[in-house]
Amino acid sequence: MRWWCWKRLLCASLLLLLLLWCLLLLARDVQKKWPVAGRFRLAPRGQLLAWPGLGAVQGVDFASLFAGSHASPRCDWGQVLLILVTSAPGNVEARHVIRRTWAAQEGQPPNRWQTVFLVGQAAEAEVARGVQREQQEFGDILVGNYKDTYRNLTLKVMHGLKWASKKCRPRYILKTDDDCFVNTDRLPAFLAEVNTVRTGLYVGSLFSQEKRQVIREPSSKWYVSRQDYHPDEYPPYASGIGYVLSLDVAEKILEAARRVRPIPVEDAYVGILAEEAGVRAKASARFAKHNVRWRVCNYRYLMVIHHLSPREQEAAWRRCRRGRAPAVAVRAASRPPAPGCRR
Ligand SMILES: *[C@@H]1O[C@H](CO)[C@@H](O)[C@H](O)[C@H]1NC(C)=O
Repeated sequence: MRWWCWKRLLCASLLLLLLLWCLLLLARDVQKKWPVAGRFRLAPRGQLLAWPGLGAVQGVDFASLFAGSHASPRCDWGQVLLILVTSAPGNVEARHVIRRTWAAQEGQPPNRWQTVFLVGQAAEAEVARGVQREQQEFGDILVGNYKDTYRNLTLKVMHGLKWASKKCRPRYILKTDDDCFVNTDRLPAFLAEVNTVRTGLYVGSLFSQEKRQVIREPSSKWYVSRQDYHPDEYPPYASGIGYVLSLDVAEKILEAARRVRPIPVEDAYVGILAEEAGVRAKASARFAKHNVRWRVCNYRYLMVIHHLSPREQEAAWRRCRRGRAPAVAVRAASRPPAPGCRR
């Protein structure tokens, strides 16, 4: 080839490069101005699109969850256990009964623990004012700056975990719901004295493989689109009825949440983040997905029970206290309940 031919080729490639660059800048601008589908952005999987120039696809926008002028609950530094209870703004009765039963503290327990309710923005002004009054009276509600809807549960839990890691730094965090019973008579002591896993802990009631299929039916409460999460199956994860995280795991999960796009299924999202962070979910029969008629002796073993009405919470709390037993019985109760002990 002649030299002028080379020159033309060089000019053309330079022009092409310049054009590409302009396109990239434009694309980034468009993405900033019109974030597709709000917080649940359109991209195969967050971390795959971290392409320089296009800007990394964002995970959870933590700063936006904290905006707002609500007074946070107080939280003592360095407790053994912080219990985060997801609760809808209108579930006043469920919160009251929890305060009267398993969240009630007698004196100063040797293994310090605390319960905090996670509540978002209520749709009705009257309900929102009620939440504010309740927080002023009890000081145990963390109000987040997100619309309180079922499909925003993920944001609720991320907000709670972030707050816990910034303001409390407990040794362990239990995430649970307001229709669950927590055996506070035993769990803090169990974590501090019986359990030997201080770090890397992510434990709860795990779902079987069939139950980990991603639901693609748009009318379902648990619908997740292929753009939001591409694989057909979630990694092993603990049911949202209750799972315990050691603080280091909570922080790894929060770190991963900045990169991985949230999906509306809260417990599955935590499982995805744990997998990202290299943390394996551990199964424990102490977390019961169903409320059968447990006998007193079961309360020496179980730590979280799902699906209780406010009335059942009171009955469970009575049985739990009747199940208080000397140290020998506690050791025996570290094994799964004997068949005779179930109903
Ligand atoms: C979640 O909360 C945000 C912020 O309040 C809101 O814009 C969005 O519509 C909510 N999403 C859903 C699915 O409810």
